[in-house]
Amino acid sequence: MDDVSRETSGGDPVSRETSPPVVAALAFAEDRLPLAERYAALLATAGVERGLIGPREAPRMWDRHLLNCAMLTEALPDEASVADLGAGAGLPGLVLGIARPDLTVTLVEPLERRTAFLREVVDALGLTRVEVVRARAEALHGQRVFDVVTSRALAPLGRLLAWSMPLVAPDGVLLAMKGRSLEEEIAAAEADLRRLGCASPEILELGAAWAQQGGLSTTRAVRVAHADPARVAWRPAADAEPRGPRPRRRSQRTAGRRHSG
Ligand SMILES: C[S@@+](CC[C@H](N)C(=O)[O-])C[C@H]1O[C@@H](n2cnc3c(N)ncnc32)[C@H](O)[C@@H]1O
Repeated sequence: MDDVSRETSGGDPVSRETSPPVVAALAFAEDRLPLAERYAALLATAGVERGLIGPREAPRMWDRHLLNCAMLTEALPDEASVADLGAGAGLPGLVLGIARPDLTVTLVEPLERRTAFLREVVDALGLTRVEVVRARAEALHGQRVFDVVTSRALAPLGRLLAWSMPLVAPDGVLLAMKGRSLEEEIAAAEADLRRLGCASPEILELGAAWAQQGGLSTTRAVRVAHADPARVAWRPAADAEPRGPRPRRRSQRTAGRRHSG
């Protein structure tokens, strides 16, 4: 297996391609930026060699991937537990764990090749609050819940709701990165939203300040909460003890424009 912890030397093509733009200093604190740089380099080397990310992504690693994903942090409450479903090579989950050491992050990914890479990166970067779970999202239903369930490029909204909402704590939210066709996806998911007892989805445009300074696009996301948290009948497992106290509702550290979808 490749050693993903290898360093890139100062003047080589990989470090030139993956060196961060100035705006990265806004997304990552001084002590976290070196971890983000290391992750970018690992994605551009081992990630590309092992087919986890396309070779053409290397030069746009920061704009299109790391910074785009980091914009999601604007909508994450302090100290939240976060599950990233279909984490792939770690986008957005690993970026969130790097940018926000207050979070506990669970990367959920069924493919062994990908979870092996994720574990190697987590070890290489010493991310003690990031765990990797090899599973399909549905396999965790009834076993785990999280304050926030994130995803990027996993499934259309209807299927995403079915996979994600059973993992969302009563006062938690689904927070999925989505593209320009979000409004149509919301319309198409109307029956799923009703069936799963969801509140009206909110469309978020995140990262406006960084986008302006760095000439980047903002990140579009949809946030969905339970319509009636008191009615969320989550139990840990059929034979387990009745569930304990609900997770506290945390203050939303939210920015970006919001409107109902
Ligand atoms: C298109 S990739 C996106 C990866 C990453 N989120 C990104 O944006 O680069 C979708 C990922 O979801 C995973 N996946 C597919 N079905 C899943 C399921 N039911 N539960 C969790 N992950 C799943 C796949 O193995 C794959 O790694």
